[in-house]
Amino acid sequence: MTAAAFWDRVARKYAARPVANPDAYETTLARTRAHLHPDDQVLEVGCGTASTAIRLAPHVARITASDIAGEMVAIGREKVTAAGLDTVTCVQGALGDPALGTGPYDVVLAFNLLHLTRDPGAEVRKVHALLKPGGLFISKTGCLGDRHGFLKPVIGFMRLLGRAPYVNFLTVAGIEAQIRDAGFEIVETGTYPAKPPARFIVARKR
Ligand SMILES: C[S@@+](CC[C@H](N)C(=O)[O-])C[C@H]1O[C@@H](n2cnc3c(N)ncnc32)[C@H](O)[C@@H]1O
Repeated sequence: MTAAAFWDRVARKYAARPVANPDAYETTLARTRAHLHPDDQVLEVGCGTASTAIRLAPHVARITASDIAGEMVAIGREKVTAAGLDTVTCVQGALGDPALGTGPYDVVLAFNLLHLTRDPGAEVRKVHALLKPGGLFISKTGCLGDRHGFLKPVIGFMRLLGRAPYVNFLTVAGIEAQIRDAGFEIVETGTYPAKPPARFIVARKR
């Protein structure tokens, strides 16, 4: 099953689920907002149902909220319309697709996405190409590779049943190195939540 097909299938359930860890989510939003400016042009990749884009929209000029799964995008559009926002545009696509525009963007966001990709370094290089010089890449990434390797067979079995997506068991040091190697300087990090660890990283294009 492709990633898009998996996320299409679970989209309505995902949208109905409460945020898993509200404190960690609010900290992530607050730390992200601290780096945003009212005139920023922002791209979010892997936006899901656009909940985060809707929360951040009042703090920037415009957000293009993108996701590979059409069903996630459809729900995102419903939520954006319900919120009465005309500064958030939901588009279907992955990094490299023309639908995401050519930028250059002031900020690219990717929350809970990179660990779902097979080659995070390649994705981060595509982000780099879409940013203005000095632009920010703000991401949060599940890092199960440091202490949660025991989950590999469980997730592998669930994938066989079509109940889990592909998960890349990344380490904190590994994802930070891939971001630096793509041409970024890391300016802030945090871990929200600590368990299972989700690494928040703010990186500036060199
Ligand atoms: C775990 S959800 C996270 C959604 C949202 N960012 C959040 O933090 O709640 C992952 C999202 O990434 C999308 N996705 C998975 N692989 C992708 C890719 N290669 N490019 C863009 N989106 C992708 C999925 O469709 C899904 O909506």
